Amino acid sequence: MSAEGLHARGLCRTFAGPDGGLAVLTGADMDLAAGEAGAIIGPSGSGKSTLLHLIGALDKPDGGTISLDGVNPLKLDANGLADYRNRQVGFVFQDHHLLPQLTVLENVLSPAWANGGKATREIGDRARALIERVGMGNRINHFPSQLSGGERQRVAVARSLVMAPRLLLADEPTGNLDSRTAAEVGSLLLEMGREKPCRLLVVTHSLELAARFPKVYRMVDGRLVSAEPGVLA
Ligand SMILES: Nc1ncnc2c1ncn2[C@@H]1O[C@H](COP(=O)(O)OP(=O)(O)OP(=O)(O)O)[C@@H](O)[C@H]1O
Ligand SMILES: [Mg+2]
Repeated sequence: MSAEGLHARGLCRTFAGPDGGLAVLTGADMDLAAGEAGAIIGPSGSGKSTLLHLIGALDKPDGGTISLDGVNPLKLDANGLADYRNRQVGFVFQDHHLLPQLTVLENVLSPAWANGGKATREIGDRARALIERVGMGNRINHFPSQLSGGERQRVAVARSLVMAPRLLLADEPTGNLDSRTAAEVGSLLLEMGREKPCRLLVVTHSLELAARFPKVYRMVDGRLVSAEPGVLA
């Protein structure tokens, strides 16, 4: 197993509930080489978001290991963990999660302000370049309420990449969009994922979107099973 890339082994997560524990992940394994893009499909409630939260260190597993380019987020101290969440990993959610009181540019810059940080000139330049790149260059001073759903999601993609993460995690990024806009945002994510050194891991209900990824996993009984992209759609 190469230290490069994302590797998860035996991830387990059980949630406490009124009727006992709910074993959502029971030993999930996955590998994403450097430069590889992967999709995860599976029924509602099967544990896809749970898995993404573990990989993004927003939640901790009950067992198993994670390695992102040789770094195990489960072994980091508080500072290391804040850095991992803020710099090593970018997140795009189903609902853009943009801050309504901030402009497009400010939203894209906002990860730089986490933990008392500042937007350096380099981050400012990258923010502007990313906003151009997602086709929103003429809207930088607009507020999210002035944008369409697809435009907001494109801004969210730009924001997720502003810290130049090693890994971009997207949880149903096209779930709230019409099929044409969803295809556009899907293309944008795939293009961004190809631009090294970022890798891309997308959870989606759309078999059409999943079929465009070189690597596809299906969540089955708390584990990940490889699926053939070609036979999905
Ligand atoms: N914090 C929590 N406490 C208790 N149960 C939880 C918690 N988070 C998730 N679950 C449960 O774990 C299961 C998996 O949830 P998860 O959100 O990972 O599913 P999913 O595959 O992303 O589904 P969807 O496609 O609907 O988004 C669900 O049954 C959910 O209710
Ligand atoms: Mg989910």
